[in-house]
Order: sequence, then structure tokens, then C-alpha cells
Amino acid sequence: MIDQAAPLFRVLDRELWVISACAGDHYGGLISTSVSQASINDQLPRLIVGLATHHQTESLVKQSKSFVAHLIASDQSDWVQHFGTQSGRDIDKFSDLEFTTSVTQAPILKDAHAWLECRVENVMESGDRHWYLAEIVDAKWSTDFVPLTFQAFLSQADDDLKALLKKQLGEDSLTDRQLVEEWRRSYDSTDY
Ligand SMILES: Cc1cc2nc3c(=O)[nH]c(=O)nc-3n(C[C@H](O)[C@H](O)[C@H](O)COP(=O)(O)O)c2cc1C
Repeated sequence: MIDQAAPLFRVLDRELWVISACAGDHYGGLISTSVSQASINDQLPRLIVGLATHHQTESLVKQSKSFVAHLIASDQSDWVQHFGTQSGRDIDKFSDLEFTTSVTQAPILKDAHAWLECRVENVMESGDRHWYLAEIVDAKWSTDFVPLTFQAFLSQADDDLKALLKKQLGEDSLTDRQLVEEWRRSYDSTDY
């Protein structure tokens, strides 16, 4: 019964990440929970990230073939609202934040405790998202913070923010469904 899948996913408490990218003179960033380690070999660390194709940050990653994944700390929940509830098409999310750059031009948030800088190696299309497999080309890690999870974030959010997230999730989920159904209709299983 596929209706058992959603409650199963709800017991998994994912960490929250800021994915940032730069193309030309445009900087962008969004919140993602679709981030996973993609290699067990310490000498060739890799990451896979799922980005919805209608987000501005996704188009910056697609153009630049690079991004930075920042692991958000439990006292940085304001980043979730800043990067996850508005689009870089309407505002410049980096205008009031300090950042630097390293190997690629993707912005690295100065206050981040941990980040992974990535260069894209391959992309998989799934209708609603592009899944970027990337090599990690630079990284910073510190032990003095607790990563913020989605459930911990929700427990801190006030009612207005919870209502905004619910509305946004509902709209994104409808868009995703339409895109996946269209993609499945045009999909040829002999393609892989
Ligand atoms: C908790 C949370 C998790 C999210 N996870 C993802 C995700 O995994 N992939 C994605 O593409 N968007 C995700 N989003 C949505 C984007 O972060 C959000 O729509 C953002 O405002 C897009 O900004 P942009 O248009 O500037 O790129 C998430 C949002 C929130 C609040």
C-alpha cells in the first residue's frame, strides 16, 4: 500500500542544508533535505543533491556545474526561513550575508560551521528534480555544533511560519506531481 510510504518518511529526521551557487554575477541559495553522502572512500568523497528544476538556485548549479552544501547548526534556524521560503528571483539572498569563495566561485557562508564545496560530475533527471552527483573539492568541518534537523526546526517555528511552510510544501508537492506524471508519460524505459 503506497499510502504507508509517507508516514515512513515522516519518522526520518533529515538534516537541513543550504545549497549555494553562483553563475556570472548572480548568487543564490536554497534549503535542501535531499542531500546524501555518495561515496564511502575518504580519498574521493562525493555527494548527491536533489534540486527542484523550478528553483533559481538549481539554474545556477546547472550553469556553473558547482555548488557549496552548508550543514546548518541548531542555532542557525533563521537561515531556513531566509533561504527556504523566498526565491532569489525576487530578492538577493546574499546582500546582507558575509561570504567568501574557494576552489569554485560558489559562495561559502562565513558563519557556517561545516561545508562541502562540490563540482558536478553527472546529473539524473526525474521530472521534478535534477539529481546532481558531485565530487567534493574542498571542505570545512568543526566539532563544536549540533546539526539542525527538520523536526528540531519545526519545534522552534511559530504558527505563522508553520502555516507558510505547509502552504509552500503543498504547492511544491502539486507542481512535483504534475512534472513527474508528464515525465513518466514521455519516459522510455529502454533509455537506461
Ligand atoms: C525544510 C525545507 C526543505 C526543502 N528541501 C528542498 C529540497 O530538498 N530540494 C529543493 O529543490 N528544494 C527544497 N526546498 C525548497 C527551497 O529551499 C525553496 O523553495 C527556496 O525558496 C528556493 O529558492 P530559490 O528559488 O532562490 O532557489 C526546501 C524548503 C524547506 C523549507
